[in-house]
Amino acid sequence: MRFDIVTLFPAIFDGYLTQGLLDKAIRNELVQIKRHDLRDWARDNPHRQVDDRPFGGGPGMLLQVEPTVNCVEAIEAMDDRPARRILLTPQGKRLDQPTAEDLADSPRVLLLCGRYEGFDQRVVDILEPEELSIGDFVLNGGEVAAMVVIDAVVRLLPGVLGDENSSREDSFSRGNRLLEFPQYTRPRTFRGHEVPEVLLSGDHGRIAAWRADQVRLRTEQRRGDLLR
Ligand code: ADE
Repeated sequence: MRFDIVTLFPAIFDGYLTQGLLDKAIRNELVQIKRHDLRDWARDNPHRQVDDRPFGGGPGMLLQVEPTVNCVEAIEAMDDRPARRILLTPQGKRLDQPTAEDLADSPRVLLLCGRYEGFDQRVVDILEPEELSIGDFVLNGGEVAAMVVIDAVVRLLPGVLGDENSSREDSFSRGNRLLEFPQYTRPRTFRGHEVPEVLLSGDHGRIAAWRADQVRLRTEQRRGDLLR
């Protein structure tokens, strides 16, 4: 799978892409993640400016349509695989696990990261990207949201997690819309807090029943909406 990220700040991704699972997935060639500096498509101006003031007035700056459309078209031509175009914006559809699963099935995803007041509306009208939000709050730009999308998708790719089943059983996935049961490891006792006795019993039937109860209880208490 290939991701292309269009951003004014490619270096934001440096640390994130060189650690842990992401780093390993990239080194094992399970995923390619290409970053593109939108300023490389700035029209002949010495400051490589790609933003301008909104017509009609108002605060802030907008990312311009011409460099953005040229950039996306040039990037898409770099690879035969068709790209799903995603624009990160608080106005988009809320990202959820089924959407991440759906994206994990596509060969290529292009992520457009806004900054300032966002993009000129014609970027959306011309490129017709899917608009995705990671929640009802406003970030300084789409980069962190793009990392969230990549993180949620890459862990679903075959071979990325050690145990093939472990991401399919994640909370909110198509196979499981419930929350997870609590888990414990050594020591058995810490500051008077004991590991539930049933987990030490070796009785797999009782353990499975206890876990199923915990899943239901937790989901009822924290996210009743998932049961309805
Ligand atoms: N850009 C700014 N805020 C955002 C959000 N909540 N989700 C996605 N992209 C964003």
